[in-house]
Amino acid sequence: MQILTNSSLRQRNTFGIDVRARRLVDYDSVAELQDLIWQRQRQADASPLIHIGRGSNLVLMGDIEGTVLHSRISDIVVTADEGDNIYVRAGAGLAWDEWVAYCLDSGWYGHENLSGIPGEVGAAAVQNIGAYGVEAKDTILYVDAVDLHTAEVRHFCAAELDYGYRHSRLKGDLQGRYAVTHVHFRLSHSFRPCLHYGALADELRRRDIRDYDVTAAMLRQIIMELRADKLPDPARLGNAGSFFKNPVVPRETYDRIAATHPGAPHYDMPGDMVKIPAAWLIEQTGWKGRALGPAAVYERQALVIVNTGGATGADIAALMCRVRDDVEHHFGIRFEAEAQFVGLP
Ligand code: EPU
Repeated sequence: MQILTNSSLRQRNTFGIDVRARRLVDYDSVAELQDLIWQRQRQADASPLIHIGRGSNLVLMGDIEGTVLHSRISDIVVTADEGDNIYVRAGAGLAWDEWVAYCLDSGWYGHENLSGIPGEVGAAAVQNIGAYGVEAKDTILYVDAVDLHTAEVRHFCAAELDYGYRHSRLKGDLQGRYAVTHVHFRLSHSFRPCLHYGALADELRRRDIRDYDVTAAMLRQIIMELRADKLPDPARLGNAGSFFKNPVVPRETYDRIAATHPGAPHYDMPGDMVKIPAAWLIEQTGWKGRALGPAAVYERQALVIVNTGGATGADIAALMCRVRDDVEHHFGIRFEAEAQFVGLP
C-alpha cells in the first residue's frame, strides 16, 4: 500500500487537471481495502472517499478534502476451462489494454475490438466500455466488489448490474458505494472476429482484407490504428475520450432533423429508436475545432474535448455546457455526459 498526503492528481487523470487530494491511497489487496474502511469506522472519519481508476473518464472539479482510493489489485486467475470457454478473473487495477494484450497472448478471444482503450479493468466494468461493436458486458460474468461503508464483500452477477450503453448500476444507483476488486470474464478459445461495425468494415475493405484472412493480432493492430487516427493521445493532449454519450432518440426526432439535414448519419436501434452520432450534431453547431479558454473541441473528432494547456475542471465544464446547450438549441436533443464529474462542492 502507498499513502501520499496532499498529493497532486495531475498524473492520475487523462485530462491532466491539476487538483490535489488530502490523502491518496494505492492499495494492493482486498484485505488492505477492508482495513482502510474499518479504520475510518473506528475513527468516525466521515470525510469524502472517492475511488478512481486510471482517471480516463474523469473531470476533477476541485481539490479533494478527503481520501482518493486507487486499486493496484492486478492478479489474473483462470477459474475454469470448459470446452471452448475459458473463465478468468482479473484484478480491478490492471491496465485495460495490458489485460487485452494478455488475453490475446494467451489465446483467449473476445476483447480484440476493445484494444487501446485507456483505463483499468475495474472501471471498464463500472462504465461498460465499448468500441467497434463490442462492449465489456459481452464478456463480463461477475463483478466482485467491496462495500465502502461496511467493508462487506459483494459478488454481483452481470444481470444484477443492469448493463446498458456506457451504463451499469455501479455508476447509477450504486455509484460511490462499491469499489470493484475483481472482474470475472468468459472468453473463448476460438477466434470469432466481430467485424460488422461500419468504420471497421470500411477499413478492412480499404485495406483489401477479407474477413476470413483477419487474425486476432491483425484486428488488434487495425483497431489501435483506427483509434490513433481519431483520438488524441492523452500523454500529449489531455482528454477523456468521448465526452458525451451518443443520444438515442425516437424516430420522429431523427426524421425532423433529416428533413433539414438530408443524409444525417444514424443507426437504427431496437424499439423504433435511432442513435445519432453526437460528434455529427456538435459539428453542425460549428463547435468542431473551436476553443473556449484552455478547453477545446478536438479538431479531428468533435465528440472529444481537449485540454490545450492548464485547463481546470471548471474550464472543461464551461465548454461542455456551451456545446450541450447549443446542440439542444439547434436540435432539441439534450446530451448526457459520458465523463464523470468528481469533487463538485
Ligand atoms: N462524426 C462527425 N464528426 C466528427 C466525428 C464523427 O460527424 O468529428 C460522425 C460520422 O458520421 C461518424 C460518426 O460520427 O461516422 C461516428 O463517429 P466515430 O466512429 O468516431 O464514433 P463515435 O460515435 O464518435 C463511439 C464511441 C467511442 C468508440 C467509437 C468506435 C461513444 C460515446 N463513443 O464514438 O468510444 O471508440 O464509437 O466504436 O459511444 C469512448 O467512449 O470514450 C469512446 C472513445
